[in-house]
Amino acid sequence: MSKPIQAIRGMNDITPQETVFWQYLENALYDLTRRYAYQEIRFPLLDKTELFKRAVGEVTDIVEKEMYTFEDRNGDSLTLRPEGTAPCVRAALEQGLLYNQTQRLWYMGPIFRHERPQKGRYRQFYQFGLEAFGMSGPDIDAEIILFTAELWKTLGLEKHLVLQLNSLGTQEERQAYRDALVAYLTPLENQLDEDSKRRLKKNPLRILDSKNPDMKTLIESAPKLADFLGEQSRQHFETLCKTLDASGVTYVLNPNLVRGLDYYSHAVFEWVSDALGAQATVCAGGRYDVLVELLGGKASPAVGFALGLERVIMLLHELDLFPESLNYHPDVYVVVSAEGTERVMSLVNDWRVALPQLSMLLNCGGGSFKAQFKRADKSGAKLALVLGEEELQQGEVTVKYLRVEKPQEKIALTDLVKFLSDQVSPS
Ligand code: HAM
Repeated sequence: MSKPIQAIRGMNDITPQETVFWQYLENALYDLTRRYAYQEIRFPLLDKTELFKRAVGEVTDIVEKEMYTFEDRNGDSLTLRPEGTAPCVRAALEQGLLYNQTQRLWYMGPIFRHERPQKGRYRQFYQFGLEAFGMSGPDIDAEIILFTAELWKTLGLEKHLVLQLNSLGTQEERQAYRDALVAYLTPLENQLDEDSKRRLKKNPLRILDSKNPDMKTLIESAPKLADFLGEQSRQHFETLCKTLDASGVTYVLNPNLVRGLDYYSHAVFEWVSDALGAQATVCAGGRYDVLVELLGGKASPAVGFALGLERVIMLLHELDLFPESLNYHPDVYVVVSAEGTERVMSLVNDWRVALPQLSMLLNCGGGSFKAQFKRADKSGAKLALVLGEEELQQGEVTVKYLRVEKPQEKIALTDLVKFLSDQVSPS
């Protein structure tokens, strides 16, 4: 036998035991998007490399070292999407969804980043994202944050996540701050760690985001971005905070929250958990008013966020918050004799139509009754329905209870639908 081929590092298979947890989260998200009146948009996994360079920024970790980029057979440089905002804007522009109108969009699917894999950090992971276009006020910022807060409530996570907020102001305000920060840090350059030295030249605001404790005091005494915000930016942010207060959403102001992508302006936020170790950010986003124009559209304000599905699922597992009932098993297992299969197949199909709330597993591939009962037991079904030759001749089904002590009984085929709907409550 040849050696099995293994998956790519940092790219995970999701087993049937796990997909039930994914579906639970996905269903909660579908339900919320409907309740908040957001519409789904789908775009390809691949886009031109230029899109991400222009949108995310040349001097970001994502573009500098994390993209899966390759030349296709035509010699075009393509990239597997390392985030969803840029392709969402590209698609919405191309499809004429942004011209003089508002849009509330969502997407869900795989994202690719060549990062160092560890718990909560993968090379293929899944994001759910919301993007709202054409609205410049803090009301829509508040709406998308409320959406996330509502999601945590639905999942029972509201006590386990902290909302961090900051305002990055306009591009001009940020440029003025950047100059002040560089002026403050340049004389202290020899106290900076290697990462920060590199960032000082290329992307100094990211130094504020440093996780190195040795950099803490230096960062604490640095000039504050909040002092560089103009009146309008300040008001936008204050109104957002007041709206959140009025809705009972609590938050922590974090002046060092700068985000790792270049397109943000004004409000940015992250939901952070202390139960996940190093990869603590579950959901992140903010306003990006210049991106649509940067990607060739008529200027349109925009705001959005994305959450990492793996991290939410990990947190729900960690805190034991998945409902008990999620462990999948069929309600009914149908045991059949080889001779009866043709007739039973059609009978079971009729029952599936009559009882759409039930999950029925019909034994396929033959096997002795003993082997089939073993499978029935392993499947987790509550009932086994036995349709042997004798039963078919008599127009009956033998019902065996697999989870409770109760003698088996015979039910007429004509009464079976009623019997099942009385007996088995859907799981
Ligand atoms: P991001 O902060 O790069 O933002 O990613 C959003 C979320 O994706 C993170 O908070 C985290 O939960 C998850 N995530 C990121 N990298 C990984 C990884 N390697 N493995 C597992 N999960 C990961 C964005 O992508 C922006 N596009 C968000 C946005 C939308 N801003 C405005 N609109």
